Amino acid sequence: MEVVPLGSVDEVAALGADVIESTVRARSGAAVLGLATGSTPLPTYRELIRRHEAGLAPSYDGVRCFTLDEYVGLPPGHPESYRATIARELTDPLGIPADRVQGPSPELEGLPTAGERYEEALVAAGGVDVQVLGIGSDGHLAFNEPGSSLASLTRLKTLTEETRRDNARFFGSIDEVPRHVLTQGLGTILRARHLLLLATGAGKAAALSAAVEGPVSASCPASVLQLHPHVTVLCDATAASGLARREHYREVYDAKPSWQGL
Ligand code: GLP
Repeated sequence: MEVVPLGSVDEVAALGADVIESTVRARSGAAVLGLATGSTPLPTYRELIRRHEAGLAPSYDGVRCFTLDEYVGLPPGHPESYRATIARELTDPLGIPADRVQGPSPELEGLPTAGERYEEALVAAGGVDVQVLGIGSDGHLAFNEPGSSLASLTRLKTLTEETRRDNARFFGSIDEVPRHVLTQGLGTILRARHLLLLATGAGKAAALSAAVEGPVSASCPASVLQLHPHVTVLCDATAASGLARREHYREVYDAKPSWQGL
């Protein structure tokens, strides 16, 4: 795992955008991007859009996208559905057509097979090249709450009270936050070739230190990242504040040969 403590949210966004763009360039139009929702990736997404609009970005023609998770029980087209959110915040502004953006299908009639069908779609696409991730304040990854199997695949899950409270800001009140979700499993996430975890703000400090420096445990789902061979963690100073080895991580990053990249 490579942890890169940075000075600000803007630095996280710039480096996050560099990682995503370099994957798009390297795969010459065939890249498969795994996209997270939530507030954390928004500055990175805005930076990608800024570069695209300024004519500085690689071409997104042919790029395919898969979201991590989706609420179950929202009316179709609800603005807070992750499908609508990712279209609004990233893929529409980048000109990636809707038929190249997929998420788990939350329709009630297909729910029992939705996870399996999503796994098949990911495999058929050749797997995810770079997966953007955030981290929940309780250490969740996508919507894999504490206690989730480290080998889990896409399936229906029930949100904790803490996560529903955290996400109430996107809805009118906590009562409007769905209880059920479809989420890629931790095992699904581990299949992506490169994992890019973004963490900003003091509210993520405890979860980040448990994920990076604590034991690998279902009690902190994000600790499963320690099992993956290519993980990049970009964090700002406040999110990094609980990391015992943060100075060492920075020293390693500063001493990296430029050809190594992230
Ligand atoms: C949400 C999402 C996750 C996200 C996390 C943190 O519930 N399902 O994919 O990474 O919680 O969200 P935020 O970035 O808004 O803090």
